[in-house]
Amino acid sequence: MIVDNFRLPLGGKEYVPIVIGGMGVNISTTELALAAEKLGGIGHISDAEVCYVCDQIFSTSYVSRKRRKYAAYTDIPDKSAVLFDLEEVAEAQKKYIEYTVSQKTGKGAIFLNCMEKLTMNNASETLKVRLSAALDAGIDGLTLAAGLNLRTLDLIQDHPRFRDAQIGIIISSVRALAIFLKRAVRLNRLPDYIIVEGPLAGGHLGFGPLDWHTFDLNTIVTEVLDFLKKENLSIPVIPAGGIFTGTDAAQYLQKGAAAVQVATRFAISREAGLPAAVKQHYINAEEKDIVVNMASTTGYPMRMLVNSPTLSYRMKPNCQGLGYLLETGGKCSYIDAYYKALEEKKSGLPITPSEKTCLCTGMARYDCWTCGHLTYRLKDTTNRLPDGSWQLPTAEDVFLDYQFSKDQEIRLPEPRQNV
Ligand SMILES: Cc1cc2nc3c(=O)[nH]c(=O)nc-3n(C[C@H](O)[C@H](O)[C@H](O)COP(=O)(O)O)c2cc1C
Repeated sequence: MIVDNFRLPLGGKEYVPIVIGGMGVNISTTELALAAEKLGGIGHISDAEVCYVCDQIFSTSYVSRKRRKYAAYTDIPDKSAVLFDLEEVAEAQKKYIEYTVSQKTGKGAIFLNCMEKLTMNNASETLKVRLSAALDAGIDGLTLAAGLNLRTLDLIQDHPRFRDAQIGIIISSVRALAIFLKRAVRLNRLPDYIIVEGPLAGGHLGFGPLDWHTFDLNTIVTEVLDFLKKENLSIPVIPAGGIFTGTDAAQYLQKGAAAVQVATRFAISREAGLPAAVKQHYINAEEKDIVVNMASTTGYPMRMLVNSPTLSYRMKPNCQGLGYLLETGGKCSYIDAYYKALEEKKSGLPITPSEKTCLCTGMARYDCWTCGHLTYRLKDTTNRLPDGSWQLPTAEDVFLDYQFSKDQEIRLPEPRQNV
């Protein structure tokens, strides 16, 4: 059995059942999502730090203007007044999504990964604007991520595309799914797909920092499939996290999954947004270099390479220009940690190293090297070049390997130099 024996039926269409997961900030680029779309699969872009991302792509100046506007707050910990202009967020979101979807050439689809935990100092209003603008801009689907998303559907229930765009949810337990479904049933708007993310995924995890390794994706997928059967619900289930080979993927499809969501193998593809040198760090990583910690200010554990530069940040909080992780009311645990350390320094006490990082900056600068647990196996997916570095596969190389490989084989890309 290979992945190509299966198709994902969704919204009256059929897709190759390979979904490239959203990877913020702009790791899952327009180009990466389009590569999946061209080959008949589904690619995600992410709207994490969308104004910043627009500045990089279109040379707009959202971040510098916001930074100037709130310059007076640079040296004070109270960031409650540092708010996003909702019209600008909508404008940036539309710009980025229209730019991406207007380049579609294939039979696949482009979805948006939208994280609830990106609270932007005004959680529900900013989320509403992000989702509505994405629908306005013609996104094919919305994947609700990083949070329980209990009120998220309510925010867009009046949008004309609420029932026509695909909407999915990422969950890590039957419990989280059941809670989400209660609200969805009340709105008569069930999700079109359910992504079940296990403990080996990259990014933030829906498990505890100490007990994540006691869970496993296969068991959770079985529980979700059983639950849906019991509830008489027919919603496509898409496992994610540690699905490393086409054979791993085909096994899930055989078991009743509708597709798989994968990311780590694509993070080192040429189309992915990480700088080329960082991709080499990912490929060179050993298992011991991959850690789950609480450095993220979201309160969720996050997996990353232990040598991520973000882990040694001691910088002044950067909320005036960025501020994507400010909770409503202007709070962020990095601000607390930073000012506590400053007080200690003033009183002559030794500075206690902060457990928290300025994640907005770390992600924007590609200094937070978040990754899936199986990153240490990336060496097996590509060729070593004469200079000792690794060849970066194209997204198509990786996609076709997932689609057609069998017997746990990984087809290496045609040898070529990195450009
Ligand atoms: C570099 C990287 C960044 C990620 N960023 C996000 C993100 O911004 N939002 C999200 O919901 N998931 C994120 N994820 C999780 C993926 O979308 C995906 O579900 C998961 O990593 C799949 O497992 P795999 O990486 O083992 O293939 C990220 C994963 C990686 C590897």
